[in-house]
Amino acid sequence: MALTDLLLLGRGVDLSSERGVSCTGELPEASDPSLVERGEKARAALGDRALILGHHYQRDEVIAFADITGDSFKLAQSAAAQSAAEFIFFCGVHFMAESADILTGPHQKVILPDLAAGCSMADMATQSQVDDCWTALESVGIASKTIPVTYMNSSAAIKSFTGKHGGTICTSSNAKKAMEWAFTQGDKILFLPDQHLGRNTAVLSLGLTLDDCVLWNPWKPMGGLTPDELKKAKVILWRGHCSVHGRFSVEAVNDVRSRIPNVKILVHPECQHEVVSIADRVGSTEAIIKIVEASEPGSAWAIGTELNLVSRLAKKHLDKTIVFLDKSVCYCSTMNRIDLPHLVWAMESVVNGHLVNQISVSADVAAYSKLALERMLALPL
Ligand code: 13P
Ligand code: SF4
Repeated sequence: MALTDLLLLGRGVDLSSERGVSCTGELPEASDPSLVERGEKARAALGDRALILGHHYQRDEVIAFADITGDSFKLAQSAAAQSAAEFIFFCGVHFMAESADILTGPHQKVILPDLAAGCSMADMATQSQVDDCWTALESVGIASKTIPVTYMNSSAAIKSFTGKHGGTICTSSNAKKAMEWAFTQGDKILFLPDQHLGRNTAVLSLGLTLDDCVLWNPWKPMGGLTPDELKKAKVILWRGHCSVHGRFSVEAVNDVRSRIPNVKILVHPECQHEVVSIADRVGSTEAIIKIVEASEPGSAWAIGTELNLVSRLAKKHLDKTIVFLDKSVCYCSTMNRIDLPHLVWAMESVVNGHLVNQISVSADVAAYSKLALERMLALPL
């Protein structure tokens, strides 16, 4: 169970970014035989006033309604590039919808069909923890040389911190460029919140060593590090991870290699360093799709990323062997919360004049977050 699910079970817990999980009015039954028809009718009624964005980890039933599908970078770019649609239905998770709200105009409304679609990794870096970390870096005298590079998978508050301190956002498709840029601005990086993407990029793409990286544990005083360790480090990695990608193991790689002749291992950079180091290819979800599309008929791939995407690739490329790089089922439970009943409910509500589940970032947080996001969008491709 993801951290977000556990939090939602808790009573009286401040759900911060996961507010308001109930649906006003009637949520259609998943078994309603007219659900697709209702969705098509609502979609047609909305016409050009609506745009539906779908992350690659979404269910097939939701992807079928998406006007644009993409990884988190492509979807942020798509939101920023279009100013016509009044309603943007974001089929993804909360931090992506927040970014879309920051990058779109005041006349545009971003809707997350289920507000419980959060991200356990984004929850691993809270504003007060990050502020404490920065205060510690100041006390050691290294804050002025440190540039925050923050993964898209973070709350708007952390993005705002990043913009305020001269840093940039990155995604899994531009982390190398973002870190290279950061090293032109300072001599140290604070990489938030995914330790694996930070470490994999620093070591496997930039040629730094594991010893150049230290791990900041937000639950320990001074992150569990000494002033000397902090001063020596080139990259300070936040101790966060993805609960989905963190499950792929070296054993799973060895097992699949022993079972499938000539199989190539293709993984997302949110996987552990040990796994990415022995994989044949690594890439964001968009890159994974392109690699499989460009591969030879008859080739075999074991893919380490979310299961909805891997299943779709397997169904689409019947001339290739495509398997999931783990024996156990591994969906992102929060991405999966956006299902057809929630999408149909959100669209029908808007058609009937009720704006539901709007994601709106306050102006003070949005200002610096936008700066950090725009620095990312300006990175060379
Ligand atoms: P990308 O969309 O950048 O591939 O990231 C995957 C992911 O985990 C999104 O939450
Ligand atoms: Fe978050 Fe991982 Fe799910 Fe992406 S796949 S939304 S990083 S928990």
